[in-house]
Amino acid sequence: MKFIAYNVRQDERAYFENWSQENNIEIKLVADEVTSKNLSLSKGYDAVISFQTGIYPAEFFETLASYGIKDVSIRNVGVDNLDLAEAKKYGIAVTNVPAYSPNAIAEFSVAILLQLLRNQNIFRKRMAANDYRWAPFVGKEIRALTIGIVGTGRIGKVAIDIYKGFGAKILAFDPYHDPKLESEGIYIDTLEDLVAKVDVLTLHMPGSDKDGHLIDAKMIEKMKDGAYIINTARGSLIDAKALLTALKSGKLGGAGLDTYEFETPIFNHDLNETGVKDELFKELVALDNVVMTPHIAFYTETAVENMVNIALDSAKSVIETGTAPTLVQTK
Ligand code: NAD
Ligand code: COI
Repeated sequence: MKFIAYNVRQDERAYFENWSQENNIEIKLVADEVTSKNLSLSKGYDAVISFQTGIYPAEFFETLASYGIKDVSIRNVGVDNLDLAEAKKYGIAVTNVPAYSPNAIAEFSVAILLQLLRNQNIFRKRMAANDYRWAPFVGKEIRALTIGIVGTGRIGKVAIDIYKGFGAKILAFDPYHDPKLESEGIYIDTLEDLVAKVDVLTLHMPGSDKDGHLIDAKMIEKMKDGAYIINTARGSLIDAKALLTALKSGKLGGAGLDTYEFETPIFNHDLNETGVKDELFKELVALDNVVMTPHIAFYTETAVENMVNIALDSAKSVIETGTAPTLVQTK
């Protein structure tokens, strides 16, 4: 058995090498993401270890099937960029890592809210200009706020625990009700009702075609004036243009965005030479009431180690047994 891994960063190499030694399985490490040009490198391997980010070539699964490859193991949660119908058509198993460290993302989502609440963008700019005054940028404390959690799965639950530590009031919306949280009475029946009641809306649900633009101009209109929105989930959930309008008009107080609707050509790329062409992105980032980060909520030592090890364990399991606990339901 031997694997090929694409998109391998320097900080992942040691984890790949250790796993390879411990399991006595050869792994070819490729720094580049999968493209039509380098797909042929996977010929002769049993499984492809990859990442959700990037644009996969249309012929990805067809080509892998022609090489006899049985498994694609993604080393993150989301499988948004993969065509699962094609995976099914060509009989290739897809696995993900559903939980590598929910704490990494939950902690980060709270951290970006704190930056907004304490006007960090403004104070950083002021200090860079040797202006050390305080007024009028008085901050807000989390315990004074009602936090609306959208999606009470693994990450949403950790976020709830953290916000409880701050003493915040918590409300939530999720079509599936967790029994323990249900007994605490935090669920609101509809998203529309939730957004009207909370000072902070924080998204912790998957992105999907069906739920694209969950937060659009109409939903924003229903939110409290001056409310904050935090998105460490998926960019597709928020209409970025409508968000920009609401932030500029003062309808919303601020946005903490680790994901952005059109992030694929921007995040995790060095655009120093070309610059960013996306005008909407540039306008958002320039606002004092926006904290934008390049999809790094997941990026901790604990998470990276788990992502590599669990993806490799899954690939080994599929090749040996035909299945794995982390198998993704293909369409
Ligand atoms: P999870 O599957 O444990 O929980 C997701 C929850 O969302 C579930 O309880 C589900 O019932 C709920 N949900 C589904 N549709 C909903 C809807 N329309 N409205 C409200 N709730 C809905 O997933 P998780 O591990 O908590 O991850 C959540 C999301 O976070 C992932 O799908 C991924 O998109 C994102 N994520 C981001 C990063 C990052 O680095 N920024 C890292 C990992 C995951
Ligand atoms: C995920 O695991 O789904 C993420 O959002 C992080 C990943 C794309 C690096």
